[in-house]
Amino acid sequence: MPVFHRTALAQDIASKLVRPQATSASGSGLFLAAPRRTGKSTFLREDLRPALEAMGVLVVYADLWENKAADPGVVIIGAIRAALAQREGVVARLARATGMEKLTVGGLGFNLDKVGMPDGASLSAALSALSDETQRLIVLIIDEAQHAITSEAGSNALFALKAARDELNSSAHHGLRIVATGSNRDKLAMLRASKDQAFFGAPLVAFPPLGKDYIAWFIARLDFKDELDVELVHDWFSKAAFRPEVLGAAVDALTYDLAVQRGGYAHQLQALVDEQIQASNAEALRVVHSLTPLQSAVLRVMAMTGIDYAPFEQDTMERYQAVLSKTAPDAKVEPDTANVQQALVALQDKSLVWRAARGVYALEDTFLAELMRKAGMLA
Ligand SMILES: Nc1ncnc2c1ncn2[C@@H]1O[C@H](COP(=O)(O)OP(=O)(O)OP(=O)(O)O)[C@@H](O)[C@H]1O
Ligand SMILES: [Mg+2]
Repeated sequence: MPVFHRTALAQDIASKLVRPQATSASGSGLFLAAPRRTGKSTFLREDLRPALEAMGVLVVYADLWENKAADPGVVIIGAIRAALAQREGVVARLARATGMEKLTVGGLGFNLDKVGMPDGASLSAALSALSDETQRLIVLIIDEAQHAITSEAGSNALFALKAARDELNSSAHHGLRIVATGSNRDKLAMLRASKDQAFFGAPLVAFPPLGKDYIAWFIARLDFKDELDVELVHDWFSKAAFRPEVLGAAVDALTYDLAVQRGGYAHQLQALVDEQIQASNAEALRVVHSLTPLQSAVLRVMAMTGIDYAPFEQDTMERYQAVLSKTAPDAKVEPDTANVQQALVALQDKSLVWRAARGVYALEDTFLAELMRKAGMLA
């Protein structure tokens, strides 16, 4: 897949991260928020990481969504261990620091598997060793960071990173910044809310969608480029919520559309983009329509309430009941703690709902709430 590089944006963000921080709170790093499928991960991997590395930064990258089955805490610790393992000097240093050098020769037998575990070296000690050995600023990139608070180990890893950040940003070491991304502002807000979190106070930056320069690059690669206007295609792209895949699928369909004549490409492409948008919206709503009456009521109430949603409170129970009596008057179901709990688990299994370790719930994708509202489901 060819990639459009956003070099200037990467340079800008990288140089702000590298600059000495004014206060320890600004040393928290940075939160990049943007809706689903708009190019966050691509930017991190293809542009931000290389830009940071070109500035001499040591980048550690953890994608908490790459393997959904893996515990997010394990993924974060694994990425840090991998960075340690590449440097023998760091391992030796860490072995010395934790009083284990006598057991090993030059640290070679040092057990990295224990780093970040209660009986092993702490993340703070590990990152300090990495910082001292390399004498470089470390930037830890965590893609889809909200998943860290869906597990106990993930929450613990964030807690440990807070300590590491404070230690490495002291004058004794060379600094640690954490860059996190996520698609849902409500979820990211939870990560930034608590003082003992690694992200407390970190600025939330709206990551800009791909722009007209991307559209110009995209069009230039097409056989029928002379029929397309950047401004127009950009308009369609914005209707497609700035998702490159929607545009890509429309172009693929157009390429194989043998009926389209010279002069008709722009018109046909617009129709195909519309079709793609309709299809992807219908697909999202199809899942909603397949829910049981209670699951549907729980989802609707959650979507209407947003960040203040409290699943088991009396008020909320009454709202489920009110929705049920409208949407499924014949369903003989009374919401109670047990069946609401079940409904929430089912909604999680269908990837509609997201649950933080402390029992806070949010919609997996806030875009769905918008679709449901447009479809009249939240009236
Ligand atoms: N700069 C780019 N140039 C070309 N294609 C891109 C670019 N950025 C994103 N895309 C395409 O858009 C799609 C989504 O990109 P990506 O996975 O980076 O988005 P995301 O925001 O991380 O998505 P998710 O919400 O699923 O994590 C991919 O198919 C990718 O190839
Ligand atoms: Mg991504």
